[in-house]
Amino acid sequence: MTTLFETSPAMPSAAGQSASRQSGPWPDRILGFSGVLWFLAAAAGQWIFVYYVAASYLPALAQNGFPGLEDTALPEGYVAGDLIGNLAIAFHVVIAIVIIGGGPLQLMPQIRGRFPAFHRYLGRTYVITAAVTSAAGLHLVWTRGVPGGMVGHIAISLDAVLIWICAAFAIRFAMTRQIDRHRRWAMRLFMAASAVWFFRIGLMFWFMTTGGIGIDPETFEGPFLTFMYFAQMAIPLLVLQLYFQAQDSKHAGLKFTAAIVVLVSTGVTALGSFAATMGMWLPRL
Ligand code: HEM
Repeated sequence: MTTLFETSPAMPSAAGQSASRQSGPWPDRILGFSGVLWFLAAAAGQWIFVYYVAASYLPALAQNGFPGLEDTALPEGYVAGDLIGNLAIAFHVVIAIVIIGGGPLQLMPQIRGRFPAFHRYLGRTYVITAAVTSAAGLHLVWTRGVPGGMVGHIAISLDAVLIWICAAFAIRFAMTRQIDRHRRWAMRLFMAASAVWFFRIGLMFWFMTTGGIGIDPETFEGPFLTFMYFAQMAIPLLVLQLYFQAQDSKHAGLKFTAAIVVLVSTGVTALGSFAATMGMWLPRL
């Protein structure tokens, strides 16, 4: 299976291709293999998250309307009399199904190659819904008493800005047919729009491996949470940038280093997804 994490013939990186000719196939193959492994772990973890979101919020909203959100995991899910806020949160969680469910599909060249119209339609939907739901999220963060404190609110607001920036560049380069640049900005958008999911699997990975060092269980505050508020988007974007640099480079050492970083990320992603599924999502259903 290939994904956009490989420099595939279906969607080549000009710089990556010339580099791979200079450094020989093995470092590129190992790098591409690490990217595919990470993609498989991430797609599985994201689709389990989507299942939880759909199974948790759709029945609650369908049966009881906005007040049904009181029975979900969102402590401030429903506020009587706040129509705009209730609409924003209902829209936010329903649209999350499209964004998190559709993201991995966009990264598969097989789907893009065989169903280009579907890829374009889902791509437009993804970009627009990610941008609009980030605005809804901003409204919620700054008008409702959601967890996270000031640092958490600033960090997730920064994520909204990153989503808008990545979406704007992805659209711009698609319109000007600069496909390799479009591909890279679309992948950055995928990382920024997945921050909510990265936060949950990162947190549960930490609980599983350390028991929750740096997190006060009473207040749900602490240095590790402060770190995670920014790491949820910074680490995925930095690892992706390293991956791009390694694709473009002619140095085998950089390709191996990036592959090792991606393989470690794959382990954390798989374990974190497992821990979040068992400890967070399944118990809520
Ligand atoms: C575009 C990518 C995003 C997706 C797919 C997404 C998805 C979600 C999901 C699924 C939930 C429910 C979480 C759960 O049940 O565990 C949620 C909650 C929430 N999201 Fe987002 N979100 C995104 C971006 C944002 C942004 C950028 C902000 C703020 C600027 C934001 C603010 C919130 C807030 C305030 C909640 C309620 C949290 C709570 O009460 O604990 N989201 N989001």
